[in-house]
Amino acid sequence: MPSSPYARVLFVGPDLHQGSLAELFQRQLIALRGEAALAAIVDTTEGYDGLWQRVRDCIDAGELPLLLVDLAPNSSSPYLDWLRSELQGIGQEAAGQLLVVSGDASRLEAACALIEQTDKHLGCVEVPALPASHSWSCIPAHHYRVLLCNGPRCTRRGALPLWKMLREQLKAAGKLDCAGGVHITGTQCQFPCDQGPTLSVYPPGAWYQVRSEADVQRLVQEQFVEGREVAELIMRQL
Ligand code: FES
Repeated sequence: MPSSPYARVLFVGPDLHQGSLAELFQRQLIALRGEAALAAIVDTTEGYDGLWQRVRDCIDAGELPLLLVDLAPNSSSPYLDWLRSELQGIGQEAAGQLLVVSGDASRLEAACALIEQTDKHLGCVEVPALPASHSWSCIPAHHYRVLLCNGPRCTRRGALPLWKMLREQLKAAGKLDCAGGVHITGTQCQFPCDQGPTLSVYPPGAWYQVRSEADVQRLVQEQFVEGREVAELIMRQL
């Protein structure tokens, strides 16, 4: 294992402790950094309190400098700004020795290589302040919120290509992510799996079963363009 300039390195992200992807992640982590690296995993699936406590423990134990390898799948500039500003608040006088680097859990070898690439590490002092007003501080003007199930049973029933088609058709209809249009959010299991692939629409709070390209076309045209429910695709209470 290459030497690290850090007294402690933590691997931080959701779904790192349990599940099939966590199993693969941990197996690869052991191969790259040894069995002891398992103790450096901080799973944020249930929130960040565990991470903040772990950072405080490292500071109290003098385990500095400390590097967080952030493995959040949807990491972004605002997310990293937030993470760094939280660490800045926790670390206070130690903040100069808290650093963050953003990696990808599915490309762990590359993520581990980042540990030695200090030019890619971000400190936790003088973190850019969140702008007082920005488009992501306003409630968007979408009319519909659509929840697409990416759970295991809907996925096996062919949900993913249908959702791709839906996104493309909404875009072609001028209804994707715009005022009066549709905002899409992917979800895990929404529960009526046997009637899936499951898609729910708010308003009106309708549960749809979408199984074919023809269903996608009807949904886009009738629900999102014409604004009326597609009765034939509404799920029934069984
Ligand atoms: S997996 Fe989609 S509703 Fe359960």
